[in-house]
Amino acid sequence: MEFQIALLRGDGIGPEITDSAVKVLESVGAQYGHCFRFHPYLIGGCAIDETGIPLPDETVNGCLASDSVLLGAVGGPKWDDLPGEQRPEKALLGIRSALGLYTNLRPAKLFPALKGASPLRADLVEQGFDIMIVRELTGGIYFGDRGMRTGKFGEEAFDTEAYSVFEIERIGRAAFEAAMKRSRRLVSVDKANVLETSRLWRKTIHRLAAEYPKVICSDMFVDNAAMQLVRNPRQFDVIVTSNMFGDILSDEASQITGSIGMLASASLGDTTRGMYEPIHGSAPDIAGQDIANPIATILSVAMMLRYAFGLTKEADRVEQAVDTVLANGCRTADLIGSTDAKPLRCSEMTAEILAALQSL
Ligand code: IPM
Ligand code: MG
Repeated sequence: MEFQIALLRGDGIGPEITDSAVKVLESVGAQYGHCFRFHPYLIGGCAIDETGIPLPDETVNGCLASDSVLLGAVGGPKWDDLPGEQRPEKALLGIRSALGLYTNLRPAKLFPALKGASPLRADLVEQGFDIMIVRELTGGIYFGDRGMRTGKFGEEAFDTEAYSVFEIERIGRAAFEAAMKRSRRLVSVDKANVLETSRLWRKTIHRLAAEYPKVICSDMFVDNAAMQLVRNPRQFDVIVTSNMFGDILSDEASQITGSIGMLASASLGDTTRGMYEPIHGSAPDIAGQDIANPIATILSVAMMLRYAFGLTKEADRVEQAVDTVLANGCRTADLIGSTDAKPLRCSEMTAEILAALQSL
């Protein structure tokens, strides 16, 4: 089979980590007889530098014409002083919205070999954990009315959150479906004691729950969820939440797996296309030094193989290769902690994973 992949390398460490993931896909392709064709497009700061805008039409059209999209990361200090509408991050929100990617799956799983890298106490991680955060991605406060105005105390800024029943229902359904394929436990995270949007969220999720009697569904306030994640991560299977809460909780969840450099994501809509990206940012402080952890991006292409192309065997194999190298003690700098082992460079970690892929 031949698959067309739009390649949005982006800024900072984006090019290095996507190059690693491309190598992994090419290796999988060679082994299993698939052809992955990559079509590079500009996004974020590099697009601003070349074209003056963060998300050129050519990029959107290129993504729409492809079978799937691989994204590195966007942003950096160079573009931090631009007005909100022209910032690199705007391109990320723009492409998610343009491709209709309202479901963001962010799995936070502890690899057995990384128990020691988790900041949690040994007894909390001994049995591991495997959480799927289902984050709403094209609505809420990220996309609501915003601006500047004069208020009681003079100049003020405002951002608003709005969620329709339609938007809550479709993300809720995605979460219940995910829960059905896993341990059938779903926690819906909101702030219904304060926010109107959260009360509608809760009501809508409860209505959906009636359609999924096999799923044990409960509610949790977001402040409590943030606490419970570090108190006892094993209590969670699937978490469904809004755009902003999901952004925050997924960073927290990533850290307890050992490093934010480990967390992959799939952004899905009503087609199989999807966009696949690590949840971390462009890490401008370490860009171009070949020291980034490529695993989050490599695990993101495993998700691409699984969800966009239905290539389950191939996806499993990539995940096993990551598991193998970690079990063999391979660590990039972010995973090292206080031990004196010498960290692998990004290219070295990639080479290890490629070798594991060949030998599995
Ligand atoms: C993420 C990032 C983005 C987000 C930023 C860069 C706009 O933090 O993908 O989690 O908030 O969605
Ligand atoms: Mg984030």
